[in-house]
Amino acid sequence: MHIPTLIERKRDAGTLSDGEIRFLIEAYTSGEMPDYQMSAFAMAIYFQGMTAEETASLTRAMLESGEVMEYPASAPRIVDKHSTGGIGDKVSLILAPLLACDDLWIPMISGRGLGITGGTLDKLESIPGFSVNVSREQALEQLEETGVVMMGQTADICPADKKLYALRDVTATVPSETLLVTSIMSKKLAESLDALVLDVKYGSGAFMKTRSGADSLGEAMRQVGEAMGVKTQVIYHPMDEPLGHAVGNALEVVESIEVLEGRGPQDLREITLNLANEVSLVDRAQLEQWLDDGTARSKFDELVERQGGSADDLSTFDSIHVAPEIQEIRSPVSGCVTQVDADTIGRASMALGAGRSRAADAVDCAVGFDQIVKVGEEVRSGDILARVHAQSASAAEEAAIRFMGGFSCES
Ligand code: URA
Repeated sequence: MHIPTLIERKRDAGTLSDGEIRFLIEAYTSGEMPDYQMSAFAMAIYFQGMTAEETASLTRAMLESGEVMEYPASAPRIVDKHSTGGIGDKVSLILAPLLACDDLWIPMISGRGLGITGGTLDKLESIPGFSVNVSREQALEQLEETGVVMMGQTADICPADKKLYALRDVTATVPSETLLVTSIMSKKLAESLDALVLDVKYGSGAFMKTRSGADSLGEAMRQVGEAMGVKTQVIYHPMDEPLGHAVGNALEVVESIEVLEGRGPQDLREITLNLANEVSLVDRAQLEQWLDDGTARSKFDELVERQGGSADDLSTFDSIHVAPEIQEIRSPVSGCVTQVDADTIGRASMALGAGRSRAADAVDCAVGFDQIVKVGEEVRSGDILARVHAQSASAAEEAAIRFMGGFSCES
């Protein structure tokens, strides 16, 4: 098979066979197909899409690029959730330890920052010592001990997604239904789950800008999951303003700890409970109690310790990554907040250094926004709308100007 010919066929809206798709993924995973050819192929998929059969073939090829999790017969119910990505979406950091308070196993495989959205792995790595590089054997051992593991794709598990995910992030090929479905479902199927809940976002800060686009994405993922024997539920959430009050890697960990301690923003707590409730065996009241009585927080401590971090650091986490410049953005007017645009804040956060522009870039854990005002709040002239955390005064000022471009208020 000739790689340029296959790229050309997809570019010209043709279809590829299961064997051809498998060949491309095997060639890419082994290094025989270079990034520049895969970038062109991803862009061809972005513009031309794939049929349901091609999407199923690509998901399977990506899944089979590595090993899948295997569990002993005595394992409890195995569940997970995955989000299609949003701004300030730190739900996984709360939900995984919360579900592990129940008699469940949560083998969560997540990704890094993607496009304008932050990634669970980058957020976790802002915890000193925390390692997301976990082998299948280590994952199983940890599940047996604590019921939860939070890890990245590895050379063993979903290696094709590991490479393609990083490539999509920097080649403007993220918001393709096919590429979203195959990336998410190859990881979730590698977890060998009993049940999965998918949090599909739509709106300015999501990859799907419209509800109809989200419906199509959600249904495509549900069909792939069910066809592979995983009970798959889909919940849709708007993503026009950031979730919670914080955007940025370490700032989001701070806010997640607040929710794990029964505090924190109500919208974040609610979404976490709604999603957890879909796959949990206990009722919502019990989940709420575990957030309020410290059980979920202790489970997070256990998880962090198990993966190389220190629970002591979590208690003082807001003093670990302090940006050199923290500026308040104050309201020039009084009135009711009508817009805090998620896309604008995601882009501003990227410009501060929270995301990547090249695959090898490191992310800046300290930068971002916190104390972000919510739509519907009444503000008076001079009130704080958000704080910018930046590496320099000029970067903070630029971010504040961007923020105000996405802010509206009606008097
Ligand atoms: N999460 C993923 O794992 N992949 C995507 O493409 C988007 C969100």
